[in-house]
Amino acid sequence: MDGRMECSGSGKGWETRCSLQDVQGIPLLGPIATHWKRVETFKAFPEDVIIATYPKAGTTWTQEIVDLIFNHGDADKVRRAPTHFRMPFLEMTAPNPTLSGLTQLETMEPPRIIKTHLPIQLLPNTIWEAGCKIIYVARNPKDSVVSYFHFDHMNLIQPEPGPWPQYLDRFMKGKLGWGSWYDHVKGYWKEKEKKNILYLFYEDMKEYPFREIQKIMEFLGYQLSGEVVGKIAQLTSFAAMQGNPMANYSSVPDTIFNRQASQFLRKGEVGDWQNHFSAEEDAAFEAHYITAMADCSIPFRFLI
Ligand code: A3P
Repeated sequence: MDGRMECSGSGKGWETRCSLQDVQGIPLLGPIATHWKRVETFKAFPEDVIIATYPKAGTTWTQEIVDLIFNHGDADKVRRAPTHFRMPFLEMTAPNPTLSGLTQLETMEPPRIIKTHLPIQLLPNTIWEAGCKIIYVARNPKDSVVSYFHFDHMNLIQPEPGPWPQYLDRFMKGKLGWGSWYDHVKGYWKEKEKKNILYLFYEDMKEYPFREIQKIMEFLGYQLSGEVVGKIAQLTSFAAMQGNPMANYSSVPDTIFNRQASQFLRKGEVGDWQNHFSAEEDAAFEAHYITAMADCSIPFRFLI
């Protein structure tokens, strides 16, 4: 079914799962493709900070860190609204303003903290023209695909995930929403020296949260004390965010996020893929990974 017909909505939101549509070779949710002109012509400002990721790489976590840095570690200021209102999702173009990142961004003053899953070649031009700082977070592909699989069960906007073996195959072929994980992580990696991109890894954030928060802080041009950085690390731990209604997406209605299927903050671990991949799947994945990543050596860690 055509994504436009299926879920462009009645004005209340997306009531049913979307299908994917091709935008310049990248499969995106139908309504994003329908409104692509608006995304493409989005106006960025130099003070805007972009948080770019392939889905499930720790976007929400990084958003919370950046908002806390902007607010000097003041937890009350950061609890002013749920994540998606504080830091809109650029390409999410639902008719419902609760979900439409673009509509929200149009009413916000810079500096804005903007989430996107777009691969580098699809970022709106004004982001480059304005010279925005971009924080890219990458997560190892095995944990990414496991997290995405659970997310697609719970997020009733996303296409039906179907059985795990076929899902894994679609991930490896770049057929899930936002396209190939391999091209996504390589695209930002190859440009990071030439552009204003801080490239981070989920696994490092998990192992060395203090150090990685400091990196983000310095990149954004802030000087916060060790005490404040420590406080930000504590406020953005998995447990703290899981219990924070402004950071755990609990305000998204059950008609969109089916929490019987999974929580948004599900496990937050490195290596959960070991509970999902069979030995055969792992061997096939490893062989494919070597070929797919042959032209770009990115130091991913699958365990910490
Ligand atoms: P899991 O499904 O493996 O638990 P995104 O925000 O990009 O959609 O990424 C979601 C993933 O990041 C989920 O992974 C979620 O649990 C994890 N995550 C969110 N906040 C986290 C935190 N503070 N620490 C560790 N992982 C976190």
